[in-house]
Amino acid sequence: MTTPGPQVRALPTAQAVAEEAVRVVRDVAGRAVAARGRFSLALSGGHTPRGLYALLAQAGAEGLPYDRTEIFWSDERALPPDHRESNYRLAWGTWLSRVPVSAEHIHRVRGEIDPQGAAAEYEREVLRVLGDPPRFDLVLLGMGSDGHTASLFPGDPALESNRLVVAVRAPIAPYPRVTFTFRVIEAARHILVLATGGDKAEAIKGALGNPLAPGFPAARLRRPHVLWLLDEAAAAVLR
Ligand code: 6PG
Repeated sequence: MTTPGPQVRALPTAQAVAEEAVRVVRDVAGRAVAARGRFSLALSGGHTPRGLYALLAQAGAEGLPYDRTEIFWSDERALPPDHRESNYRLAWGTWLSRVPVSAEHIHRVRGEIDPQGAAAEYEREVLRVLGDPPRFDLVLLGMGSDGHTASLFPGDPALESNRLVVAVRAPIAPYPRVTFTFRVIEAARHILVLATGGDKAEAIKGALGNPLAPGFPAARLRRPHVLWLLDEAAAAVLR
């Protein structure tokens, strides 16, 4: 019997992906608060989540139960929080600065300090807020055209790390980064992967077409609690 794979939904456009992502995030949030009194969420980086963040900003205070939500990042570049390539800055500028979420619910990686120190500090913060083992209600991820996810790149020893958060040197700029390991990611109750654009199509085929795809870290995102939301361009080769 084959093990059930991830859920994969192809939607017509990147905007439709963002709109469906809002529905998924809000649904998981509501069920988490009802079941456990809070919603723990880890945000991805890159540009893809911008549409989701903008829609959550538009939804205002009703968008999420902000007083019960703990917001983390699944990875961060080793850059100051106001740097244009900071994952925190994207979420803060597009969304979090526009909704009633208090500072103690926002747990950013301190990209402005040395990455090793930032990783150790962030690992302690994850454990402090979520307990041990940490189990996020939802981890939001993207995927690069090389099949990386978070800042877990092909061939990096971080892929097999037993730590929760590690510092890595990415093969693409910005190079030094801090990232969740798969130990945290795979423990999440739900994983939502957003991938749009034709440049992701081959990597999508690699990650979803072959469960043993060597060199595609995102190929590990295959459990039934993983939902991939793709636009038509990203899903083209998969079809
Ligand atoms: C990062 C991300 C990374 C991202 C992919 C896709 O910090 O870069 O976390 O994993 O999700 O590289 O990036 P785009 O959304 O920009 O295509």
